[in-house]
Amino acid sequence: MSILVLKNIKKTYLLRNSVFEKRKSIAAVKNISLTLEHGVCLGIVGESGSGKSTLGKIILGLEKPDQGEVCFLGKNLHKLNSKELKELRQNLQVVFQDCYSAVNPRLTIGEIIAEPIRNYKRLSSVEEENQVQQLLKKVGLSPEDVHKYPSQFSGGQLQRINIARAIALKPKLIILDEAVSALDALVQIQILNLLAQLKEEFQLSYLFISHDIQAVNYIADCLVVMHQGEIVESLDDMEQIEQLEHPVSKKLLSSILPPFPKLF
Ligand SMILES: Nc1ncnc2c1ncn2[C@@H]1O[C@H](COP(=O)(O)OP(=O)(O)OP(=O)(O)O)[C@@H](O)[C@H]1O
Ligand SMILES: [Mg+2]
Repeated sequence: MSILVLKNIKKTYLLRNSVFEKRKSIAAVKNISLTLEHGVCLGIVGESGSGKSTLGKIILGLEKPDQGEVCFLGKNLHKLNSKELKELRQNLQVVFQDCYSAVNPRLTIGEIIAEPIRNYKRLSSVEEENQVQQLLKKVGLSPEDVHKYPSQFSGGQLQRINIARAIALKPKLIILDEAVSALDALVQIQILNLLAQLKEEFQLSYLFISHDIQAVNYIADCLVVMHQGEIVESLDDMEQIEQLEHPVSKKLLSSILPPFPKLF
């Protein structure tokens, strides 16, 4: 069974600038179908506005599609009741680009990482602190950081904290929406290596959404290229990346700097 199957997903936003204007619409996602297998990282690459984040939000249930089905772990997400959805939802996590707004500045790192654990498990405070400290170690931070606040960390460290929170419930799939795009090049490589390690260790699947085909090439096992709400090209073998043919793919490829050295 595939971990995620999208069938004919469509999402149009209606816009109205003023009461006198006719309603305009933007077809953000047009009839997208794709399948993601267990343990695979699928890169979704495309220019700004191509519909990548809208697709991610639909999978996460943050946006409702006008049409189509999202099947996660064999279940149609739109046909579940709230209890079933909560149960399934612990297997689906997300890390967004903006690591600062993803955390509440008034909570300690320990409280931030413990949030999903508290939502799903009943642990004593000692057990909870133990788990949080283990998670901090997994993402390369010190267990002593547990009592610190977000303002005491760099962007890269905060993204590690967001990753620790995302893996806290041992999910099956993580959606990474431009998760490294705001970081400088060296920190990007470090976080990509961390994500690759965690993927192996926890048998995770990733949907790695990015406008940066170089970062996608570094971590993904396969990719789709989106343009104006559609998948215009796909690749099962990243070794063939140079052979992408669509003009948008070529444009994205032409922006590539010399390749990152692979560290894993
Ligand atoms: N809530 C919304 N209301 C109206 N239009 C929206 C909304 N969200 C997205 N859009 C529009 O849908 C289209 C796709 O947006 P989306 O954010 O999915 O693109 P993206 O590929 O993630 O872009 P980026 O690389 O800049 O993050 C864009 O034209 C955008 O303006
Ligand atoms: Mg986006």
